Amino acid sequence: MLHRRKFLKSAGYTTLSALLTMGVLKQKQSHNNNVAMASYPSTNVSSPLRQLAAAKGKLYGAAIDSVYLQKDAGYAALLARECGIATPNGELKWNATEPSPGVFNFKSADVIADFCQKYNIKLHGHTLLWNQALPSWVSFPPTMQQLQKHVTGVMGHYKNSPVLKSWDIANEIIAANPNETNDTTYGLLLGLTPQYILELFKFAASVDSTKLFYLNETSVEGASWRSDRWLALIEYLKNNGAKIDGAGLQSHLWFSTAYPFDAKGFSSVLKRLNDLEVKPIITELDIIIDLPLPNNIQDLDRMVADSYKRYLDLCFAADVDTVITWGITDRYSWIRDLNYMPAKFKADRSRQQYLRPLPYDRNLQPKLARNAIAQAFQQAT
Ligand code: G3I
Repeated sequence: MLHRRKFLKSAGYTTLSALLTMGVLKQKQSHNNNVAMASYPSTNVSSPLRQLAAAKGKLYGAAIDSVYLQKDAGYAALLARECGIATPNGELKWNATEPSPGVFNFKSADVIADFCQKYNIKLHGHTLLWNQALPSWVSFPPTMQQLQKHVTGVMGHYKNSPVLKSWDIANEIIAANPNETNDTTYGLLLGLTPQYILELFKFAASVDSTKLFYLNETSVEGASWRSDRWLALIEYLKNNGAKIDGAGLQSHLWFSTAYPFDAKGFSSVLKRLNDLEVKPIITELDIIIDLPLPNNIQDLDRMVADSYKRYLDLCFAADVDTVITWGITDRYSWIRDLNYMPAKFKADRSRQQYLRPLPYDRNLQPKLARNAIAQAFQQAT
């Protein structure tokens, strides 16, 4: 297996992506012609994902919601068993932690921090700067004074935390496309400048340089206008002395038999981050199968499982060591929340049963996806 990885590295992953492209084609064929499919034996269900990950020096975890954590014992037990790292779903965002100027509230975040301490789970802080989940008294971008006070209060509260080991210093700051920015080089959202982001990273380091600092972004899991500018910003921050330890690829992935996955582009993003010595981190992984939907739930779950396995194989071939799914059970997936559900699924209730993006189903039972994730960790070299 080591030979395979060295061979693939020397080939710059093109060989792997070619194999995967074939795999994608195979998936289409297998989906359509019932060719022998990859199997994900449930024998490994007895081994928690956190244990399978740790055996390879890696971390598996999930986003946690404090409200459900307190009222759903089955959910809490599942998280305790499976997770070696956790991200608060919303509890460390600005609207939760500083609802009024200078008034900090960590009650819901500390419910999660205490849970993590009890079960020896690392806590990932998400996020100090985002243009969403802002309290009404903050406009975007916040003034540097507002931002520095916020960072001081929030990072200060967790400076001596035994569990919080990393922060998303900023989240989703690259525009979705050139029409949403005036910044041709880095594609930053209107109002942001690279100097502002650099100052944020440097100020955060002055408050607490003991944590790992990440820049978290969505829709950068392939070669695109957005990922190019995100990588350029990371290089700028690195070259100008920012403490940036990792780059978070959210990985809210859409797959379909109607379009292939940009395996080659994704591998090139991972390679460029490794070349910049900024670790790629998978921070919000979940998998939505797009139209045309398969004929039944069994086929759907198979497609989700195959997609997890192929994606994680690529990640681990590039030495990714941290994988966080955005939730652990379909029972509480954000994508099933009517406030966030994609319009094409909201428009047709019969499609909503196909929103099954996570390792466990709504009855907290392991799905094929869970076995596929387990197998990916087991096969990681
Ligand atoms: O916790 C309160 C609860 O006490 C209250 O009764 C309820 C009333 O609506 O609100 C609850 O807060 C909700 C919070 O999730 C729970 O963590 C907020 O209303 C709701 O807006 C918030 O939505 C979250 C959203 O980020 C905005 O913060 C989603 O669940 C969460 O999945 C989503 O996650 C984002 C990542 O942070 C960044 N990447 C994209 C991802 C998906 O949008």
